[in-house]
Amino acid sequence: MPRILVWDIPTRLFHWLLAVAFVGAFAIAQLLDDDSPNFRLHMLLGLTAAFLVALRVVWGFVGSKHARFGDFAWSPKGLVDYLKGAFAGGGKRYAGHNPGSTWAIAAMFVAVLGLAATGIAMGQGNEAAKDVHEGFVLVMVLSVVAHLAGIVWHTVRHKEAIALSMVHGQRVADAEQAIPSAHPSVAVLFLVLVGLWGGALFTGYDAAKSEVALPGLGVLHLGEPGEGGAEGKGGSEAGEKHEDGGDDDD
Ligand code: HEM
Ligand code: HEM
Repeated sequence: MPRILVWDIPTRLFHWLLAVAFVGAFAIAQLLDDDSPNFRLHMLLGLTAAFLVALRVVWGFVGSKHARFGDFAWSPKGLVDYLKGAFAGGGKRYAGHNPGSTWAIAAMFVAVLGLAATGIAMGQGNEAAKDVHEGFVLVMVLSVVAHLAGIVWHTVRHKEAIALSMVHGQRVADAEQAIPSAHPSVAVLFLVLVGLWGGALFTGYDAAKSEVALPGLGVLHLGEPGEGGAEGKGGSEAGEKHEDGGDDDD
């Protein structure tokens, strides 16, 4: 079978930018206290991840063949057959996303959008949102672990360096599965939009008020209400409510 182009450039750019935004947001949440001035990076990276997913959802309807949701392997029976085949051998080969990756990707998209929604809700004072945020973190982490395990498993079992397909866009598959264009001009537009969004967030963040102006969507308060600044100054009005994080020692 020939080596053909299956992933266009917008999909590949989306992939690596999402990976960086997720790992960055996750690592910051592990390393920094949410009172730290730099915790804003966590929230801005998370909002950027959600914007990436929103753009990818649009591309899922209008993009190239294998980027379209219609090409994903959604059938539950297909998933069962795929998992059986992965361990017992045999099973169908897919040029685009297989059933395992289809469901892991769908879970990641829902989790990232859920993380942004609950992150925003926390800023509006919704106490319950914190637990749901943590639930979405778990969904995201499990999906990424399954995703990476699937890639390693596929690489070993089929002796195909599948990881590189998200770099050069190519896989060994039927010639008729090839996409005709890598869509470089859409990739440029994608980068411009992400750059404008990320730039607007990072430059429009008001540390004194803990607020950010989202382009076209209004002003958003980030972090717990009453946190009026990097050092938590101005927080007296809404009270100092720190339910957890009991390691604060003046
Ligand atoms: C936190 C890290 C990662 C996240 C959040 C992530 C997420 C995703 C997502 C959302 C897709 C779907 C792409 C699309 O159609 O838009 C995908 C596909 C893919 N990713 Fe990742 N990924 C991560 C790390 C990696 C790494 C480290 C590799 C390579 C070693 C990798 C290799 C791939 C490959 C090969 C596919 C296509 C899988 C298939 O054949 O269906 N990913 N990933
Ligand atoms: C990829 C996206 C995101 C990931 C992976 C993520 C992950 C996390 C993690 C692991 C924690 C620590 C939870 C704990 O204490 O056990 C956390 C806390 C938090 N996140 Fe996110 N998050 C994301 C997006 C966001 C966004 C977009 C916002 C705000 C708009 C946000 C706001 C917060 C806040 C305020 C906390 C602190 C909660 C507290 O301990 O009081 N996050 N997040």
